[in-house]
Amino acid sequence: MVTNSYRDSYRRSVEQPEEFWLEAAQKISWTSPPGRALDASRAPLYSWFPDGALNTCYNALDRHVAEGRGGQDALIHDSAMLGTQQRYTYAELTDLVARFAGVLRSHGVGKGDRVVIYMPMIPEAAIAMLATARLGAVHSVVFGGFAPKELAARIRDAAPAAVVTASGGIEPSRRIEYLPAVAEALGLAGAPDIPVLVKARAGFVSAAADHAGWLDWDTAMDSAEPVAPVAVQATDPLYILYTSGTTGAPKGVVRDNGGHAVALRWTMENIYDIGPGDVMWTASDVGWVVGHSYIVYGPLLAGATTVMYEGKPVGTPDAGAFWRVVQDHRVNVLFTAPTALRAIRKADPEASLLRNYDVSSLRTLFAAGERLDTDTFHWASRVLGVPVVDHWWQTETGWAICANPRGLEPLPIKAGSPTVPMPGFRLQVLDGGGGEVEPGIEGNIVLGLPLPPGTLTTLWGNDERFISSYLQAFDGCYATGDSGYRDEDGYLFVMGRTDDIINVAGHRLSTGAMEQVIGQHPAVAECAVIGLADPLKGQRPSGYVVLKSGVDIPEDVLAKDLVALVRRDIGAVADFKHVTVVDALPKTRSGKILRKTMRQIADGDEYTVPSTIEDPGVIDQLIGALRGGTDAG
Ligand code: COA
Ligand code: AMP
Repeated sequence: MVTNSYRDSYRRSVEQPEEFWLEAAQKISWTSPPGRALDASRAPLYSWFPDGALNTCYNALDRHVAEGRGGQDALIHDSAMLGTQQRYTYAELTDLVARFAGVLRSHGVGKGDRVVIYMPMIPEAAIAMLATARLGAVHSVVFGGFAPKELAARIRDAAPAAVVTASGGIEPSRRIEYLPAVAEALGLAGAPDIPVLVKARAGFVSAAADHAGWLDWDTAMDSAEPVAPVAVQATDPLYILYTSGTTGAPKGVVRDNGGHAVALRWTMENIYDIGPGDVMWTASDVGWVVGHSYIVYGPLLAGATTVMYEGKPVGTPDAGAFWRVVQDHRVNVLFTAPTALRAIRKADPEASLLRNYDVSSLRTLFAAGERLDTDTFHWASRVLGVPVVDHWWQTETGWAICANPRGLEPLPIKAGSPTVPMPGFRLQVLDGGGGEVEPGIEGNIVLGLPLPPGTLTTLWGNDERFISSYLQAFDGCYATGDSGYRDEDGYLFVMGRTDDIINVAGHRLSTGAMEQVIGQHPAVAECAVIGLADPLKGQRPSGYVVLKSGVDIPEDVLAKDLVALVRRDIGAVADFKHVTVVDALPKTRSGKILRKTMRQIADGDEYTVPSTIEDPGVIDQLIGALRGGTDAG
């Protein structure tokens, strides 16, 4: 029996997953409909809809044209940087995507091949993703704020058949030339001959013509033959998205075609309450999972209109930018990161700029990427007068683990909580020994296996790392790496990470990766990077460095060097600007740096010093340093 209550849906999803997910699968157009939902034959590696076949791009585009919505807007691009707006109907977008798929095919891209996409927030980024999917190939989008070394690491791991890029991205303070970065990355990856397609943008210095064998997007499109969607198995990969792990090597999260389409389609209706003709604007970047799921695939799978925004919440030109976009495009659902709301609030505390715009189309504001702090929640609720909904998820899960299912059954909103688990997520809060904790007690948030459709199936080419990173710490469970607690009503409160990942302005970064970069400096003997509380960005990285003996370097000179190194090797987006030289780092007897204790001291929180500490005196020496430091920003 189908019901529209959260509780029944959740129960059915865990007690009768076959029935629940096969029913959800009916919303997708299959070339071969699935006869079964879950394949557990390779547990703990699970897959969904093993006998189904489909094309994701067909479901996102052609299908809506076939159903009579060809004239409806599919994608609206709004650039606050350039002051331009461009609209693409479903028919137009389908044609562009089919032709760009023809371009990719003529350069050797076929089913299963990888395509690395390194693009700013322009429509061609979405076109390249969808064209890759149309061919049954696998895209890997790399965020434009990452430096060449990070791009190279992803090219090396994904071994793409082609790279798609653009002349550059526009930041408020500067234009970023992409082509030198791509050339450097290809060199570093030892893959200089991969075909590179370049979307030219006005105002940039370098062009495809400067590089032997690189091709101009527009020229290639002039003679392109449209390509029909290629059916793939539901279990075939749609994309790889690299995300920060606790080491310097990024993890290649693999998303399948079938589970992804079914799950996202379900979320559009049941979480976001968005259907055909509605307008969703996700103010993120296609380089992040939020952009994959809710700038590109989710809204298009639902036959809605998606808004793609090139700009910032403030300064482009002011803190009214978001309200202007909502008004101009009659946005029904806005999804953004709390840091963007904090930036707007800082610039315009009473949201007085809201009065200049008609935002009456807005039904709901969704937030994710980091915890929605209660102050920001109350502020946004008050100034906008619409429900403000926090929801918690990760690159790995691809959609919300916990949310308030506004379309299914709006549940009471509690400040500070992303509400309750979504279907198929068997959420538990466990202590270190794997025992379930009582409500109100903080512990490790884990998810019982199997995870629902749309979540990661493995790490690219590395089942062992998938298992060791996520599936071994708690028997039969996926470890989210987050800690938190549930209240008596079953609402979750996510409190922070249990590992060395930090979240800076909604960007997930590895402190381990920063430590590796800092460790290259000739003056540095060892270092620790921790994420300190930041009122705007949630967290900011702060580096603590022990010098090699005999080295004499002024702290400000070293700080400048290290900041430049992190910008060069990871990217400006790491926002690494704070360095402190210390005599020693606190460690356990087995050599593990006590980052959590350091963070607690620096943030002025109550701190606990583990009994396994090697030299308790180090903590006393550090207290002053942890509350000071040299800002090279
Ligand atoms: N390409 C190149 N560089 C980029 C970039 C990109 N796509 N995105 C950011 N950067 C650079 C910025 O130019 C800046 O460089 P700078 O140090 O030389 O000035 C640096 O990375 C940090 O940028 P950012 O994180 O945007 O910080 P900011 O101080 O410029 O702006 C906010 C603060 C809050 C306005 C901004 O962080 C923001 O809009 N956050 C929302 C993030 C978001 O939506 N995340 C998605 C999660 S779902
Ligand atoms: P990413 O993979 O970049 O989406 O980052 C995922 C991580 O961001 C999660 O594991 C959390 O630590 C954090 N995160 C994302 N959304 C939320 C949220 N709504 N509340 C708390 N933390 C969040």
